[in-house]
Amino acid sequence: MDVREKIKKVAVLGAGDMGHGIAEVCAIAGYEVWMRDIKEEFVERGMARIKESLEKLKVKGKVDNVENVLSRLHPTTDLEEAVKDADLVIEAVPEVMDIKKQVWGEVDKLAKPECIFASNTSSLSITELAKATKREDRFLGLHFFNPVILMRLVEVIRGEKTGDEAVKTCVEFIKSIGKTPVVVRKDVPGFIANRVVAPGMVLLFSILEKGIATPDEIDATMRKIGLPIGPCELADYTGLDINYHVMKYYEETISPDYKPPEFLEKMVNEGQLGKKTGKGLYDWSAGRPQIDLSKATDKVNPMDFSIVEINEACKLVEMGVADPEDIDTALKLGYNRPLGPFELAKSIGAEQIEKRLEELAKMFGKKIFEPTEFIKSGKLKALLEKQG
Ligand SMILES: NC(=O)c1ccc[n+]([C@@H]2O[C@H](COP(=O)([O-])OP(=O)(O)OC[C@H]3O[C@@H](n4cnc5c(N)ncnc54)[C@H](O)[C@@H]3O)[C@@H](O)[C@H]2O)c1
Repeated sequence: MDVREKIKKVAVLGAGDMGHGIAEVCAIAGYEVWMRDIKEEFVERGMARIKESLEKLKVKGKVDNVENVLSRLHPTTDLEEAVKDADLVIEAVPEVMDIKKQVWGEVDKLAKPECIFASNTSSLSITELAKATKREDRFLGLHFFNPVILMRLVEVIRGEKTGDEAVKTCVEFIKSIGKTPVVVRKDVPGFIANRVVAPGMVLLFSILEKGIATPDEIDATMRKIGLPIGPCELADYTGLDINYHVMKYYEETISPDYKPPEFLEKMVNEGQLGKKTGKGLYDWSAGRPQIDLSKATDKVNPMDFSIVEINEACKLVEMGVADPEDIDTALKLGYNRPLGPFELAKSIGAEQIEKRLEELAKMFGKKIFEPTEFIKSGKLKALLEKQG
């Protein structure tokens, strides 16, 4: 059966950064969409953002009839109106387990039994969220990336009890809204894209902690090999508090190696959060930091960042979370990378990767950098040879 036969009405809960974008792409694709937030002003703000975005898309020739799209969007503060008769509910409310569970508990009572439930959480366990409902087989993750209108990747995450039918329907649904679904077969912290880049964060803050190189030396080195923005500037741009909280979460859920270094904790406590407070790893008071490319140094090896990501990607294959091809797709579309970790591994070579991981693990005393079984047992080498 065509997915449009199964899904006609979509309810999006939350009209914030993600919710308004999700509602917009679903309405553009022809679905009837109810967008719900808790206050009139939040719903209105979400609708204003959608209108502004649709006007821009019209100028670019990507949307023909703005009025038609808007006629399919139904803003509301009434939860029952939003989810009653919905075939799919996508939740994009704040990233707090208790809030999300409370929302899902209520929705479960109001939605029809066959309705599929999806959370856009970027870190919480899908299995745990599903427990707030009586339909764990029809509960999954649909992890969109920001900004939704531009980013093509959507991770479709299976919780422990998610059924095949719900996954299949959502994969088709995601394709029907013009996005690329990647199925995350196991509900692991960080899912795929965010998980693969996680050890790079540990490497960066360990280099800074040990005083191996300064932020401008690191960024100059990375910019020199063609990156549009260095990792330190990016950390400031994202917010050091966000980096800190992500590391704390991974410290609890993946490995104690993710424990944020003391200097980072101190900076966060003192409100040195990066761009948004004017000071972080850089001083932002006069705008974007000027990076002097002559500061590029061989104290930092840019390839190390790729190597720790390749190791993490191999761990995901080992755990049965996804296949190498899907992991490459997730990284390319989720992080706008030209190559995925397995494609990069080909140019570095499995033996070189293993050797360097052993060195990094020793150098920084981090177990997460130790080459994983998939590499040590020669499986990565065999895979790369097979790919030719
Ligand atoms: N922002 C990102 O880059 C990003 C990327 C991927 C996933 N996510 C995830 O998406 C979710 C939403 O994030 P966001 O950035 O859009 O947050 P946001 O703060 O911009 O929006 C959340 C919205 O939810 C509303 N809300 C609160 N309680 C509600 C309820 N009971 N019912 C309906 N709406 C309610 C809030 O009023 C707010 O408008 C989070 O789980 C987040 O982790 C965010």
